[in-house]
Amino acid sequence: PRKIIIDTDPGQDDAAALMLAFASPEELEILGLCAVAGNVPLSFTSRNLRIVCELCGKPDAKVYEGALKPLNRPQVTAEHVHGKTGLDGADLPEPTMQAQAQNAIDFIIETLRCEPSGTVTICTLGPLTNLALALQKAPDIASRIQELVMMGGGCFEGGNITPAAEFNIYVDPEAAKIVFDAGIPTVIMPLDVTHQLLTTRDRVAKIAALGTRPAQVLVEWLAFFERFDIEKYGSDGGPLHDPSVIAYLLKPELFSGRLCNVEIEVESELTVGMTVVDWWHVTDRRRNATFMRNVDADGFFALLTERVARL
Ligand code: BDR
Ligand code: CA
Repeated sequence: PRKIIIDTDPGQDDAAALMLAFASPEELEILGLCAVAGNVPLSFTSRNLRIVCELCGKPDAKVYEGALKPLNRPQVTAEHVHGKTGLDGADLPEPTMQAQAQNAIDFIIETLRCEPSGTVTICTLGPLTNLALALQKAPDIASRIQELVMMGGGCFEGGNITPAAEFNIYVDPEAAKIVFDAGIPTVIMPLDVTHQLLTTRDRVAKIAALGTRPAQVLVEWLAFFERFDIEKYGSDGGPLHDPSVIAYLLKPELFSGRLCNVEIEVESELTVGMTVVDWWHVTDRRRNATFMRNVDADGFFALLTERVARL
């Protein structure tokens, strides 16, 4: 299996991504799970991450806590989407498992230095603060990362937290800039892809029909999470962002995009956190990321449903 570290700020859609990863041990070996401040403060994202581990029957998973806030901006959170705890919608017990004593930044550095170079993939589902701090502290790790697969940014779809910016990049644009400038082979799952992954009634009904406890909880989370987007966009269901990252590792053929230059705006008040994507190759700037644009949405939901059934 492919070795991965998941860095996340759960979040109901992060939780769905974690379920997909936990259900796929043949393809993915999860070395550790890192919590970062994002949708809600770190104390909640760490708690939520451990709740998901226990729900999935993985109380021995290794959870590490990372950054409490963005590199040099005040914290921005998204309780308006995810609820007060970040994981509202289902009634679950407080976790009994503890986070590891080592912090997430040191865990990332140590793991990349110990494992053979080019064999560890980093998956980020939240702001890029933890990875940026690791790169600042240990620049040598950049060349050891096999691939970075991230949910963040947008181009043709615009933004979801400002007209120009997507939440994960907007929360810590300086961190995103450090990561994009580090020369890591990068795959981006932007809003352009995730806005195609709508949790329509039909798709959710198939998950509900599995009848298992994890499936039931996922359906409850989705119902809470999507209410925001249904109101906002008037669509049948809301976009399911973060599982696209894990789905890409399992079935890359579901996605299509283009290797191009992507830069992060960190100065302009109006467009801070924007991913400026050179889709048409109008500059000769380094092509530093594969920016995905399309997805086979039915294929994605078939994969998600089939895997959640295994939990
Ligand atoms: C991203 O922001 C968060 O609210 C979601 O969990 C996802 O990672 C979407 O913009
Ligand atoms: Ca997230």
